[in-house]
Amino acid sequence: MGLSYLKKIRFALAGCGHIAKKHAEAIKAIEDAELVAVCDSEPVALKTFVSKYGIKGYGLYQELLQDREVDVVTICAPSGLHAAMGIAAARAGKNVLVEKPVAITLEEADALIENCERAGVVLGVVHQNRFKPAITQLKSTVERGGFGKITHANATVRWNRNPNYYTLRPWGRLKNMGGGALMNQAIHNIDLLQWMMGKVVSVFGYTSSSLGLTEAEDTGTAVLKFENGALGVIEASTAIYPQNLEETLSIFGEKGTAIIGGTSIGEIKKWVFSDQELSVASIANQASTGSEPLHQCCVRDMVRAVRCREKPLVDGKEGRKVLEIISAIYQSGVSGQEIVLTPLEQ
Ligand SMILES: NC(=O)c1ccc[n+]([C@@H]2O[C@H](COP(=O)([O-])OP(=O)(O)OC[C@H]3O[C@@H](n4cnc5c(N)ncnc54)[C@H](O)[C@@H]3O)[C@@H](O)[C@H]2O)c1
Repeated sequence: MGLSYLKKIRFALAGCGHIAKKHAEAIKAIEDAELVAVCDSEPVALKTFVSKYGIKGYGLYQELLQDREVDVVTICAPSGLHAAMGIAAARAGKNVLVEKPVAITLEEADALIENCERAGVVLGVVHQNRFKPAITQLKSTVERGGFGKITHANATVRWNRNPNYYTLRPWGRLKNMGGGALMNQAIHNIDLLQWMMGKVVSVFGYTSSSLGLTEAEDTGTAVLKFENGALGVIEASTAIYPQNLEETLSIFGEKGTAIIGGTSIGEIKKWVFSDQELSVASIANQASTGSEPLHQCCVRDMVRAVRCREKPLVDGKEGRKVLEIISAIYQSGVSGQEIVLTPLEQ
C-alpha cells in the first residue's frame, strides 16, 4: 500500500559535500520523504545544492535548526563536527541522521546519544553496508548458527587515497576531524565485523602514517578477542599502490567458511557450509545484488523509525560499538598495551 496519505518526513542536509549528493538523491527517491533545506558554511557548495534541488539554503547551521518545517537533520559535515551538530539538532527538537562515524570520541558519542534520548528524538547512524544483500545473508547465517563454533574472523581494507582525495576533503588528513584509515574508511568493515561477531573484549593495535600524506593513520592493524571466544584480525590501509584493491570480511567456523569481498565489499568469494541448505543460499544472493541504492536503504529506515517512533537499524548505541573498537586500537597504539573493553551499559 502506498503512503501518499501520510505527511512526508521532511529532511534537511547539514553539509553539501560529496556524500550529501547521495542523501539528496536517496530522499528524492523515497515516496514519503522530502528534502526541504540544506546548509553549508561554504557558499559555493550551498548554492550548487540550492539551485539543483530548488530548496531553502542556510549559511548558518543555527538558522537551519530554527526552520520549523524540518523533521530530520542529516549531518554530512566533516566527522569531527558530528557530535556538536547532532546535539544542537536534538536540542532544537530535530531527529538526527548522522553520517558515520556517530562521533569521533566515545565521550562525544555518549553526549550525542544522551541529548537525543533527553529530547525524545530519533538518532540514526549511516552504516549503509549493513544493507548489502551478501551482508544480510551473512548476518542471518551467523544468527542461525550456520558456522557452528566460530574460530576467527578478519576485516581487511586495502584501499588507496591519493593526494587529490585530500585536496578535495582537507579534513580527511586530520585526526581531530575524523580522518584516518580506521576512523574514516575501514570503519564500515569493522562495523560489519562486530555486527557479525558480537562484543569485543580486548584489543591490541598499531597505527602509522607511513607515507606522510596524512596526520591521521594511513595504516592500522589490530588483533581482537571476542566475547564468544573467537579471535579477530583487522588490517586497514589507504596506502595501497596504485589503487583500491579489496575490502573483505572473512568468517571461519567449525561448520562453515564465508568470505565476502570485492574492491568494495559485497561479492561472495567463498561460501561453504556443512549444511547444504546454507551452501546453496549464495546463488539466490548473487541474483539479488544491485537492488535499492544503499543510502536509500538508510534513509528509508530512518523514515520508518521517525514515523513509527522505533529504533533505526543503526541507532546511536549501535553506531557507538565500532567507535569503541577503533578508539581502543588508537589507545593501544599509543600505550603499547592491550586494551580491555568495559561492558556497554544496556
Ligand atoms: N557512508 C559513507 O560511505 C560515507 C562516504 C563519504 C563520506 N562519509 C561521511 O560524510 C561526512 C562528510 O564527508 P564528505 O566526503 O562529504 O566531506 P566533504 O568535505 O565533501 O563535505 C563536507 C561539507 O560540509 C561542509 N561544512 C563544514 N563545516 C560545516 C558547518 N559548520 N556547517 C555546515 N556545513 C559545513 C563543508 O563546506 C563541505 O561542503 C563525513 O563524516 C564522512 O565520514 C560517509
